[in-house]
Amino acid sequence: MGAGKTTVGEWAAHRLGRPFVDVDEAIAREHGPISDLFATQGEAAFREIEARFVREALARPEPAVIALGGGVVETPGLLPDDRAIVVHLPVDLDTAWFRARRSHRPLARDEAEFRRRYELRAPLYAQVADATARDGDDVVLAAAGVHVERGALERLGELVPGGSVALVSDSNVAGIHGMDAQLALGTRLAETHELAPGEEAKTLAAVDRLWQDLRLDRSGTIVALGGGCTTDAAGFAAAAYLRGIAWTPVPTSLVAQVDAAIGGKTAIDLPQGKNLVGAFHWPARTVVDPALLETLAEPQRIEGMAEVVKAGLLAGEHFWELPDDELVRRAVAYKAAICVRDPYDRGERAVLNLGHTFAHALEAAAGYEGVTHGRAVALGLLAALRLSGHDTQVVEEVLKPEPVRVDRERAWHAMQRDKKVQDGEIRLVLLHRDGLPETGVQVPEEDVRRELDRLIA
Ligand SMILES: NC(=O)c1ccc[n+]([C@@H]2O[C@H](COP(=O)([O-])OP(=O)(O)OC[C@H]3O[C@@H](n4cnc5c(N)ncnc54)[C@H](O)[C@@H]3O)[C@@H](O)[C@H]2O)c1
Ligand SMILES: [Zn+2]
Repeated sequence: MGAGKTTVGEWAAHRLGRPFVDVDEAIAREHGPISDLFATQGEAAFREIEARFVREALARPEPAVIALGGGVVETPGLLPDDRAIVVHLPVDLDTAWFRARRSHRPLARDEAEFRRRYELRAPLYAQVADATARDGDDVVLAAAGVHVERGALERLGELVPGGSVALVSDSNVAGIHGMDAQLALGTRLAETHELAPGEEAKTLAAVDRLWQDLRLDRSGTIVALGGGCTTDAAGFAAAAYLRGIAWTPVPTSLVAQVDAAIGGKTAIDLPQGKNLVGAFHWPARTVVDPALLETLAEPQRIEGMAEVVKAGLLAGEHFWELPDDELVRRAVAYKAAICVRDPYDRGERAVLNLGHTFAHALEAAAGYEGVTHGRAVALGLLAALRLSGHDTQVVEEVLKPEPVRVDRERAWHAMQRDKKVQDGEIRLVLLHRDGLPETGVQVPEEDVRRELDRLIA
C-alpha cells in the first residue's frame, strides 16, 4: 500500500510497449469503490474477488504489466506464478502509513493494525518476488533479466541461475577480476577458460578451441566475464554448444555493460566483415556490476560514452550527466526495453542505429583500423543530428568528436553499401527531438554525402 505501483507500473508498461492492468482499478470498475466492498462484504469476500481478478489478469495471452494490491500475498497459491516475473516495490512503514492514511484506504484506519499487517506481509513479499524495484527502470530490468548492482560480482554465485558454471574470461580481465569471480562462484565453478582480449576472441578459431575445451553438459551455464568481445564470443559459443546452453554475461567494459551484453545478440567476425556469424541467444540473466568499470582505461570509457549519449538522445534523458551507477542502470534499462519489444531486430530496435550508418562507413573506410567504433559513432551522431535539424552541442561537449583521416570515396562507397540502403535510397535514423527518433527516413543523397564529408579531415 502506498508504494507507487500505479505510477511505476504505468511507466514500465510504456517503456516495454505493453498494456498496463491495475487490478484494484479493474475491481473498482466492476464492483464499485474498494472501501465500500470492504465495508459491506468484509475482507474475506474482497480477497476472493481480488483473487479472481488476479488470476484473470495473469492468464491474459499477451504480455502485460500488472499492478497487484499489496494484500495478494496473503492469499495462498496466487503467487508466484510461473508465467510472471514478480517485482516487489518496497516502501518503508512510515511512508506507507503516511500515503495510505491520506488516501483513506480501508486498511489504513488504525495505525497499530496497519503496522501489524506491514510486518506480517514483509517476509511474504521476499518469498514471492523475483526482483525488487525502486522505479520503472528497475521493473524493465527485471523483465529483461538484467541485474544491475554495485558489488554484484561478489554475489555471482547467487545471481547466476542454474547449476555448474564454465567461466570464460578475457585474459586481461581474468587477471583483474577473475579471482573475485571464481571465489564468488564457489563450488558451482566447474571449469575456467580464457579468450584473448579484443576482436581476436571473435574468431571461429577461438570459439572452436573453447567448444573443444568445454566439458559442461546441457544443464550447465557459461558465464562470460569481459568486454563486448568476450560476451559476443562466449555468448555465441553458448548459443551453439550442445545446440544451446544457458549463459550469463558479466560485462566489464562500459560498451559491454550498456550495449553488447544487453539484448541477446551474439556474434563472431569473418575476414569479410564484423559480426557476420552469430545468433540471438537471450541470456538466462545478465549481471552488471558498475564497480568493475573502475579499472577500465579512459579510452575504453570514452568508447562506451558514445553509446550512452546515443541512448540518452533516443530516450530523451540526460544519461551522460549521471554518476556511473545510475548512468549504467538507466542506459541499460533503455536498451533492454527496446530489445524486449523487438527481440529479433525486426522493427523498432533499428532506432539503436542512430549515427551508426555513418559510423560504419567511416570504420570501413579506415579498414577497421585506427578509427575506433566509439569515435566513429560520435561523428555519426553529429551527422545524424545535423540532418535532423537537431543541435549537436551535447555530442560536441561530451564526446569531442574529431574528424577522421580516411578516403572520402571509400567512405561514400561503404555508406551506399550499408545494409540500410533499400531501393537505391539511403535510409537513416533521425531524431526529430530528444526522445523522438524515426527510422527508415529517406534522405537525399547529396545531403548525406555533404554530411559524411564534414566528418572527414
Ligand atoms: N552484441 C551486441 O549487441 C553488441 C553491441 C555493441 C558492441 N558489440 C561488440 O562489442 C565489442 C566491443 O566491446 P568492448 O569495447 O568492450 O571491447 P573489448 O571486449 O575488446 O574490451 C576492450 C578492452 O578493455 C579491456 N577491459 C574490459 N573490461 C575491463 C575492466 N573492467 N578493466 C580493465 N580492462 C578491461 C579488455 O581486456 C579489452 O582490452 C565489439 O566486437 C562489438 O562488435 C556487440
Ligand atoms: Zn555501436
